[in-house]
Parts: sequence; C-alpha cells; structure tokens
Amino acid sequence: MPEARSSVYRLESVDKVYKARRSSLFQPATQIQALRDVSFEIFEGESVGIVGESGSGKSTLSRILLGMDQPTRGEVRFRGRSLRGANREVRGRLIRDVQMVFQDPSASLDPKMPVGVAIAEPLRALGIEGDRAARVRELLELVGLPADVVRRYPHEFSGGQRQRIAIARALAPRPRVLVADEPVSALDVSVQDQIITLLNHLRQTLGLTLLMVAHDLAVVQLLCERTIVMNQGRIEEEGPTSTILTAPRSGYAQKLLHDAKFFDLRSDHATS
Ligand SMILES: Nc1ncnc2c1ncn2[C@@H]1O[C@H](COP(=O)(O)OP(=O)(O)OP(=O)(O)O)[C@@H](O)[C@H]1O
Ligand SMILES: [Mg+2]
Repeated sequence: MPEARSSVYRLESVDKVYKARRSSLFQPATQIQALRDVSFEIFEGESVGIVGESGSGKSTLSRILLGMDQPTRGEVRFRGRSLRGANREVRGRLIRDVQMVFQDPSASLDPKMPVGVAIAEPLRALGIEGDRAARVRELLELVGLPADVVRRYPHEFSGGQRQRIAIARALAPRPRVLVADEPVSALDVSVQDQIITLLNHLRQTLGLTLLMVAHDLAVVQLLCERTIVMNQGRIEEEGPTSTILTAPRSGYAQKLLHDAKFFDLRSDHATS
C-alpha cells in the first residue's frame, strides 16, 4: 500500500473580511470579503500554484498561511495543528518551517545591511547556532551567487540577483515550506525563467513544499504540479496544472490562459 502523504496545510472554509476605510464620516462602513469559503489541502513535497487576477485574494491567503493574518471564519491547520490560538510551540515551528519570498526582494533586504549579514539574519533572529559564515557560503552557492558578494550591498545588484539573495535568506533557517508571492513578476522577462528554474532546482534538491502565487498561469506552468485558480476570494477551479493549461473548465481560467505570457522554453540564457 502506498504511504499516506503527510498534510502540510489544511484549510477548512476560510473566510477573510476586511473593513474598508470609509471615504467620509457620512458613508456606511463597508466590508471587503477577501476570501470566501476557501478549503484545500497541501501535502509534503507538493508544488502548488495559486493563480488569479489582482484582488482575487492571493496575498491575503499567503499571509494567513504564514500566520501573519488570521481568518475571520474557518480553520487553518499546519501539520494537523490548528493555528487558531496556537501555542508558542506551534507558532515557533511555523515561523521556522515556513519562509516567504516576496515580489519585491528589496522588501526583505535592508539597504544598509551587507548581503552576508542579511542572509545570516534569520539565523540570528531564530537563535540557530552553528558556523553562520559557512552557512552563508553554502546558501550563496545554492542560489548561484559567488561567495564574494557578502560584503556588498543590495543596491549593487540587479533585480534577479537581489531575488537570489532574498531566496538565500529565506532558505537560511532550512524551511520545509516556501511561499513565494509573485517572485518573478517585477523582473525582466529574460530573468524570470532563470529564477523559476532556480526555484524548481531548489525544490527538488531540498525536497521543499512550494506554494507559488502568481497572476500569470505561465509562471506556474514549469513549477507547479497542481494549480488553484482564485477568483474574487473563491476557489474557481483546482486541478493538475497540465489540465488547467490544456482544458480549463471555467470561463475565468480560460481567460487567464488567454492572457498568460508563456516563456520561450527553447531559449538559452546566461545566468543573471
Ligand atoms: N489590509 C487590508 N485592508 C482592507 N482590504 C484589504 C486588505 N488587504 C487586502 N484587501 C482587499 O482584499 C482583496 C484581496 O486582496 P489581495 O491583496 O489578497 O489580492 P491579490 O490577489 O494578492 O492581488 P494582487 O495580484 O494585486 O497582489 C482586495 O479587494 C484588497 O483590496
Ligand atoms: Mg498580491
């Protein structure tokens, strides 16, 4: 009998409602429902794309997965344990096991902090002992950057290189899960597929569970076995990425497919 896959995340009927800021005192307070009845499960080692147009709730979902935001209703389980009112042990494991890569690498890199210090910083923050300089060298090699970048500053690098630095930093505490929110959408097209190739390589060599948020179906094509399509806070469609790319059921997914900017997969590129 095949071994049962272990559950990393399980969401049960998650809603997220935000109070919208009133434009004037005389207007009634309105609410924005960013997530509606979102349920799914993600298993160890899976690579899952979360795709939808702007405002569909993708970032809200990522923040909830990271414990940075709480659902209004519903349940989020991380490795079987509810995050609602989670104790320190569960939260501590979440903080160490799940790391995030953002659209804008500068968001996670202090401009005044040399790259080597920035990459080692999560180790310090989480109190992870060991030879930090050696770990930084190992991480740089993992993301394809030379060891001598440690003394340089983020502004000295291109967008693609900065994203490699941000990825190295996210991997420093040896997370088991990586949540990447639009990690390539701010980059030049020629650099986008290099970062996707890198993420794919890292996922395979480190056995990571990867959650990739994107507005473009092309971005998840190479990286994600399964795709969840979000529309106005709801799951519109979900299934193997190959099925969504070849036979999308919903009109919404068909439109996303029509708008997708697929890479030229035959092209060769030098590393950024
Ligand atoms: N802190 C907040 N306060 C109020 N409304 C919010 C907040 N965060 C998100 N929203 C609203 O919730 C909805 C979903 O936003 P979210 O950022 O999750 O979408 P997204 O899919 O990540 O979009 P994008 O592709 O533009 O990043 C939007 O209508 C947004 O305006
Ligand atoms: Mg977003």
